[in-house]
Amino acid sequence: MNPSGGLFWHWHAWRHQAQWTDTCADIAVWLREMPAAKAKSDELVILGASAGWMMPSSWLQGFARVTTFDLDRWAAPLFRRRHGAALRASGTALQCHTGDALTQLDTVLQAHPHALVLLDNVLGQLRFHTPSVDEASARIAQITNRLHGRRWGSVHDAFSGRTLRRPGAALPAMQRSLQPARVPSGKTAARAVALGRFSRQLQAQGDWLDHLTDQVFPAGTPVHHIAWPYSPGYCHWLQAGWIAP
Ligand SMILES: C[S@@+](CC[C@H](N)C(=O)[O-])C[C@H]1O[C@@H](n2cnc3c(N)ncnc32)[C@H](O)[C@@H]1O
Repeated sequence: MNPSGGLFWHWHAWRHQAQWTDTCADIAVWLREMPAAKAKSDELVILGASAGWMMPSSWLQGFARVTTFDLDRWAAPLFRRRHGAALRASGTALQCHTGDALTQLDTVLQAHPHALVLLDNVLGQLRFHTPSVDEASARIAQITNRLHGRRWGSVHDAFSGRTLRRPGAALPAMQRSLQPARVPSGKTAARAVALGRFSRQLQAQGDWLDHLTDQVFPAGTPVHHIAWPYSPGYCHWLQAGWIAP
């Protein structure tokens, strides 16, 4: 069973589209801030694309080629179903692959040497795909190291947990910060302060799950903080950033 995708995810995303409108609008704002390409015709590679439930077709239409990867066999047909017509209309070539793009990351990067790479809500899921949190953290570090020198971005879970927020209540507005410098302990004081502030705004209840993504971005990266009302009584805090070499 796929712990972060598959039919349950598709059903859940389809069913909650209306509740996720504000989150998707925040993500769209961030997506448009991607680093510009030097070449005119540009290619996008999406890792963990699923059906692209949370991205607008209009953003994808700005690329000459879009290539997606996901472990989930339902992802490719559903991505084509959601975005295919718009991409045909803009003349954007679409290729959807089923497979483990993270284990095969070197091969994927070599096959698409000039593409902008988007890790689309996948890094924060890795703790569910590995037996230990240490292994998950090491895997995330390996992946981001391999992307060194590339134009890439990631939107991922930072924390998630129960909330007293009423369904339909206004979400905290998207916030922006700069990724703080790393400290030897691996955790940053700034992150603890940010968690306190954001989780209060989301009316967090109890302990929230740490998705082990605090070291994804290099120090100084502009980071967007986005609230995601995943289901009634449960919220995620997403972080999103772009890196240019
Ligand atoms: C939360 S979902 C992503 C949601 C998606 N970005 C969207 O907007 O619909 C995480 C996805 O990452 C995929 N995934 C997890 N590990 C992967 C890997 N190693 N290679 C490719 N896809 C992976 C899962 O199958 C799942 O579809």
